[in-house]
Amino acid sequence: MDVFEAISGRRSIRKFKKENVSDELIRKVVNAGIWAPSAGNVQAWEVVIVQDEEKRRKISETAYMRDFIAEAPVIMVSCANMERSSAVYGARGMDLYCIQDAACATQNMLLAAYALGLGTCWVGSFDEELLRDLIDIPNILKPVALVPLGYPDEEPYPPTRREPEEFIHMEKFD
Ligand SMILES: Cc1cc2nc3c(=O)[nH]c(=O)nc-3n(C[C@H](O)[C@H](O)[C@H](O)COP(=O)(O)O)c2cc1C
Repeated sequence: MDVFEAISGRRSIRKFKKENVSDELIRKVVNAGIWAPSAGNVQAWEVVIVQDEEKRRKISETAYMRDFIAEAPVIMVSCANMERSSAVYGARGMDLYCIQDAACATQNMLLAAYALGLGTCWVGSFDEELLRDLIDIPNILKPVALVPLGYPDEEPYPPTRREPEEFIHMEKFD
C-alpha cells in the first residue's frame, strides 16, 4: 500500500470482529514499530502484547469503560522506557524523547496494521496505576497508549481535519 494512502485511509476502529489475529501478523505490526525513528536510535520503547481474554477485559476497565477495547483479540500496550532514554539524555530523555520514541513506534504500528487489513485505535484515556498493576509495568516505563488490534467491523467516516491555512505558519508564528 502506498504510504499516502495508509496515512489518509487509516481510521480509529472501535468495533472489531471476533476473528483472531495470527502471531505472524502481530509480529509484522510490532516490527513496523521497531523501524520508527528514535532519539539517538536509543529505541526507548517497549510493547506488551495482551491476548488473554480476562486480562483484556480488565485492561478495558482501566480505560474508563471502553468495552470495545476488550472486543479486539489483541491489546498492545505501548510504553515509553524512561530509564533507557534518560541514561543517555538526562531530563530531556526522561520527559520528552522516550515519549516521542513510543509515539513514533505506535503510529508506525497503526499504519502497518491498516496496510495489513487490520484495525486499531490509539487509546490514551486510561488509569495508569491500575494498568501498571494489571500487567506489571515497572516504574521505569510509562504506558503511553493502549492499542486494540483486530479485524475491523466498521468503516468510520473520516473525522474532519483543520484546514492547512489554520496551522501552517510561514517563517514565523502568526
Ligand atoms: C494521543 C491520543 C489519544 C487518544 N485517546 C483516545 C481515547 O482515549 N479513546 C478513543 O476512543 N480514541 C482515542 N484517540 C483516537 C482519536 O479520537 C482519533 O485519532 C481522532 O478522533 C481522529 O480520528 P481518526 O484516528 O479516525 O483519524 C486518541 C488518539 C491520540 C493520538
